[in-house]
Amino acid sequence: MTVQCNALKPYDVQAAESHQDFALDVLLGLSRSPKALPSKYFYDAEGNRLFQKIMDLPEYYLTECEFEIFQNHKDRIGELIGSDRFNLVELGAGDGQKTRVLIDHFLGKGLDFRYIPIDICEEALTELLQELQGYSPPLRIEGLVSEYFVGLKWLSNQIHDKNVVLFLGSNIGNFSHSEARVFLYSLWNALNDEDYVLIGFDLKKDIHRLTVAYNDSQGITAAFNLNLLRRINRELGGNFDLDQFRYYSAYNVYSGAVESFLISLREQTVYVETLNQSFSFEAWEPVHTEHSHKYLVSDIAELAEETGYEIIEQSYDSRGYFVDSLWQVRKNREM
Ligand SMILES: C[S@@+](CC[C@H](N)C(=O)[O-])C[C@H]1O[C@@H](n2cnc3c(N)ncnc32)[C@H](O)[C@@H]1O
Repeated sequence: MTVQCNALKPYDVQAAESHQDFALDVLLGLSRSPKALPSKYFYDAEGNRLFQKIMDLPEYYLTECEFEIFQNHKDRIGELIGSDRFNLVELGAGDGQKTRVLIDHFLGKGLDFRYIPIDICEEALTELLQELQGYSPPLRIEGLVSEYFVGLKWLSNQIHDKNVVLFLGSNIGNFSHSEARVFLYSLWNALNDEDYVLIGFDLKKDIHRLTVAYNDSQGITAAFNLNLLRRINRELGGNFDLDQFRYYSAYNVYSGAVESFLISLREQTVYVETLNQSFSFEAWEPVHTEHSHKYLVSDIAELAEETGYEIIEQSYDSRGYFVDSLWQVRKNREM
């Protein structure tokens, strides 16, 4: 069976824009104090390959939890979403492996939808589209290589369609609570009344379990973080010596997030040719690379209420580590 696969925007235009954004964000991030680089830049081709390895790690429980949730709750999620024609839009789709559990189920039930994966990583999206070629029964797909906000802009034009938005794999955890509020409210603005959003939240749990998930014994998470410096070297002409930085991550009980860093092992200066700029590092100076916020069920309820959604269903894995929360957009009426 063939897949109808229309990119909504030419990849090359997006890629050119993202190269400039990358340069600007590196300049801003390494000039500020404390230094920080946005985690969305992890995902070049190598970062995408390393993240797929992370998802297979025994310590990284998040993926198997969400797989289990979809296996056990796909019927219920399908019933709740209903039978009208809809757009299944996935923000930060990655390899889409877990989503395929839902897609297979929805197709098997004869639901009428098109799948629109959106991801900043061109390699991830290209691989996903290739995997879905020859899909049977036939699947309508339109992929978009872009930032989330371009996806929101696209969504805001779908005024006559029903939309079901997937935001899986604890992608929401990369936002602080205030950023999550802004993002979810922007999403609400882009959606129509009664559209659905399915969000994967990683829950607060035993701290050892959390820290081990980001400190795997094979060093894949460390390589994934260090790849960000390699990307700066390759794409922006940087001269980072990767042996002079060490990955470190820890759970912060106050912020409720696993926080990740690359630590400079000595006093050093790094030059980035595209920026024509040098950056000085003290010995033991950190560069923040990622927040992975963990949630309480009460935080989720608060977030939904503050941003204009009603929680329809909470689907948990058997260990209660993770929840996929189905929300419905409420506009024009009291809840
Ligand atoms: C942690 S992975 C999760 C992938 C998938 N959702 C899953 O559950 O397996 C995050 C994905 O989101 C994409 N991503 C991260 N930040 C993004 C952004 N600002 N805009 C669009 N995609 C983004 C990355 O390229 C990556 O594929």
